[in-house]
Amino acid sequence: MQVIAKKTYDEASAAAADLLAAAILMKRDAKLGLATGATPVGCYKELVKKYESGMLDFSRVTTANLDEYRGLDGSHEQSYRYFMDSHLFNLVNIDKSRTYVPDGTIEDPDKACSDYDKLLDEKIGAFDIQLLGIGSDGHIGFNEPCDYFNLKTQCITLEESTVKDNARLFFGGDLDAVPRQAYTMGIGFIMRSKKIIIMATGESKRDIVEKAFCGPVTPQVPASILQLHPDVVLVGDAAAIPDAVVEKYK
Ligand code: F6R
Repeated sequence: MQVIAKKTYDEASAAAADLLAAAILMKRDAKLGLATGATPVGCYKELVKKYESGMLDFSRVTTANLDEYRGLDGSHEQSYRYFMDSHLFNLVNIDKSRTYVPDGTIEDPDKACSDYDKLLDEKIGAFDIQLLGIGSDGHIGFNEPCDYFNLKTQCITLEESTVKDNARLFFGGDLDAVPRQAYTMGIGFIMRSKKIIIMATGESKRDIVEKAFCGPVTPQVPASILQLHPDVVLVGDAAAIPDAVVEKYK
């Protein structure tokens, strides 16, 4: 694992965007795995800037997102489809028919999950690069702490800490407005990615970053499995990356 620890959120965002941009420059039909949440917003802003400056062409890029709230359709302002459209897809020249997000409107969880796994196998196979954030409980995608590493897309009931984090950041603090379930890509597909960038910014991620990357590999800290992937870059700011992590991976 490589660690890129920048001083500020903006610098970390620019560093993550550089890595994604490099993947697109090296392979114009790159397949990208994308995340939502507060952390990657700055990274997407930087990618849009690079597109506007003429440096990046998204016309042949394919993307698939990690997760979507069960019950929300893409026109709902808090849906992850809406997030991706408004932070990236509507602002660059990507062909939206090649941008995939789990379908939150499918009521039957088994169907929603098997449909997404089928789509990932058919349209992606394996990402060239996967962007991740990390939950304060160590989740990646919405794969919450559990007794085993969940390999396939699943319907997950969100931990109360995740519901609170998401309410604070996105639902105007209204806990009741946060859906309690989400469809999430499994850890198996995330680990299949050729390269993984995990972003962590802000003081609230510091403890979990240390647990995930200096502690044991355990499904109780889902992000810890990334220690077993051959090509992971942790990109963060000084507030989120403890010295112990920098030391271990230097
Ligand atoms: C979002 C996702 C989640 C977030 C995590 C951190 O698609 O998969 O794992 O990356 O919840 O969220 P933020 O960035 O809001 O702290």
